[in-house]
Amino acid sequence: MTRVRHEGPVIVGAGLAGLSAALEAAQAGARVLVLTPEPLLSGCSSAWAQGGMAAALTAVDSAELHARDTEAAGAGLVDPGAAQALTEAGRETVEWLAALGAPFDRYGDGSFVVSLEAAHSVARVARVGGDGAGRAILSAVVAAVRAEARIEVWEDARLKGLMQDETGRVVGAVAARGERLVEVTASAVVLATGGAGGLFAATTTPAVLKGEGMALAARAGAEILDPEFVQFHPTAIDVGLDPAPLATEALRGEGARLIDGAGAFLLGEEADADLKPRDVVARAVHAARTAGRGAFLDARTAVGEGFPHEFPAVFAACMRAGLDPRVSPIPVMAACHYHMGGVAADADGRTTVPGLYAVGECAATGVHGANRLASNSLLEAAAFGGRAGR
Ligand code: SIN
Repeated sequence: MTRVRHEGPVIVGAGLAGLSAALEAAQAGARVLVLTPEPLLSGCSSAWAQGGMAAALTAVDSAELHARDTEAAGAGLVDPGAAQALTEAGRETVEWLAALGAPFDRYGDGSFVVSLEAAHSVARVARVGGDGAGRAILSAVVAAVRAEARIEVWEDARLKGLMQDETGRVVGAVAARGERLVEVTASAVVLATGGAGGLFAATTTPAVLKGEGMALAARAGAEILDPEFVQFHPTAIDVGLDPAPLATEALRGEGARLIDGAGAFLLGEEADADLKPRDVVARAVHAARTAGRGAFLDARTAVGEGFPHEFPAVFAACMRAGLDPRVSPIPVMAACHYHMGGVAADADGRTTVPGLYAVGECAATGVHGANRLASNSLLEAAAFGGRAGR
């Protein structure tokens, strides 16, 4: 066992939440150590996000309206104060990321292009390159982290334990670096370890994410909130892969429709029927498949020839599987996509254990309730991750 004394916080995880915390803590003068088991940009869900970042960015929108939609989607279990704190941070968070170099899609006048996604009452999802938001945003943040002398990143360190003093305060972390165990003492430990999709039969997240951060927090005595609240995405592409590639909800925002094998609409004929909250749509997809009717996303008319440049990631995933979404409906299934439950934390990441913070998907801050509103997670990761860092 090697022992390292680190004068500052240790952040475990290098998705958008962890790296936003790292940047803001460094900005506030701290020396930061980030532990991650894989090279930056891999092994985290943020880099796979397609839709983008929800934020009130247009004249017809407001933080209040965004908070109301967040609460309605969350099935009565959203903490209104947390939702308001999140949505009020929308514009400044998008602008902070844009200033770091995130190349959000813009109109000629410089305003942000926004997409419509399910259960949003207006279009408010800031996107990048159509469906490439997660990777592009995280790449900008990674570049800023690499340029920050006060941040050190170990890209081969897997969390194995949390160290506590005699009062229960978390005072460091134990990590495996190859065969070697390293004990790192720290002023605080910030968990940013992501979700638990790897525990499920099919997931849209990296399969390596199995909820270990949450488990270690529980062992340290932290309150775990709503661990059963798992979100299933209705349009994981069913081409026999696990993790399953995603067909972003923005496709339905553009008018793509969910149909069964006989061509009947799964959720009804109304134009916005497929934009109901994600849990409702996921159940309809699952029911159709279980009944043997099959479930397909038909984007032939709504997107058609525009597919390669409007949704390049989805198009590439389909073509790799031998399926041309310009001419064929895409077979879809519900797959584990996001964990709303996790380590109970406030908007600054504070958990019930002194010295231990949690941000991003491993945290349960009350903003998502029982059903996360689409594209609120990247916003939460950057906004609340940054708050924890500060
Ligand atoms: C999607 O693009 O459909 C996913 C967005 C999200 O999960 O927030």
